[in-house]
Amino acid sequence: MTSTPYSPKIIVCESDGAAAAIVADLYADLLRDKPAAVLGLATGGTPTATYREFVRRYQQGDVSFARASSFNLDEYVGLSADHPQSFCYFMRQHLFDHVDLSADRANVPSGDAIDADAEARRYEEAIASSGGIDLQLLGIGHNGHIAFNEPGSARNSRTRVVDLTDETIRNNARFFDSIDQVPTTAITMGVGTILEARRIVLLATGADKSEAVAAAAEGSVSEAVPASLLRHHSEVTFVLDRAAASGLRSATG
Ligand code: PGA
Repeated sequence: MTSTPYSPKIIVCESDGAAAAIVADLYADLLRDKPAAVLGLATGGTPTATYREFVRRYQQGDVSFARASSFNLDEYVGLSADHPQSFCYFMRQHLFDHVDLSADRANVPSGDAIDADAEARRYEEAIASSGGIDLQLLGIGHNGHIAFNEPGSARNSRTRVVDLTDETIRNNARFFDSIDQVPTTAITMGVGTILEARRIVLLATGADKSEAVAAAAEGSVSEAVPASLLRHHSEVTFVLDRAAASGLRSATG
């Protein structure tokens, strides 16, 4: 793979709450400029503070999602939208049920589709026919994954069904009663799908993410660290708290 000229813009915040506020600012500014924006959203422990901030700003009348659409990054295969550990359920609980985003424009892959491969293709086409994602929110896994693009995922990969690594299954077991309940496959936007978003914001908080953040921002651009492939894109911002930034050589914060 050829090297690329891009470095992510890095914003280091005093706390995870301050980081969530910065991300909320990016989305609020976008929605003010483009009320019918297409928002790329993520699940996990990291973005919940950001979604609290979205809801607070909506309740105060500072932001409206009424004309927006959204696409989530991924969903477990085998879980229906009503399953409490599905990402669709997570999004309703943390965001969709509390703001004026229209339910028929809040897109999450259907985990219980009869044909998961066909659902992945449908999802990719739905993103394209929406006009494309204006601002995509990402977390990062300890192994450098973005969405469920685990190490080895191709730079040009599209929305597809993937196997989860044992590490990801172990890490996500905290959301389930037992590790045996964690699905082993998922539908995920591909790296290539994510790189088509007009802008990307990667949010990471906590010291446990510092190595992955440093590898993504300053290590080699390699499919071994999927988040490093974001350096193929010129409009990427990493929003970090001090702990997540602690492995960076360049962070001045
Ligand atoms: P987390 O997950 O926010 O729960 O740490 C992030 C990710 O795995 O992408």
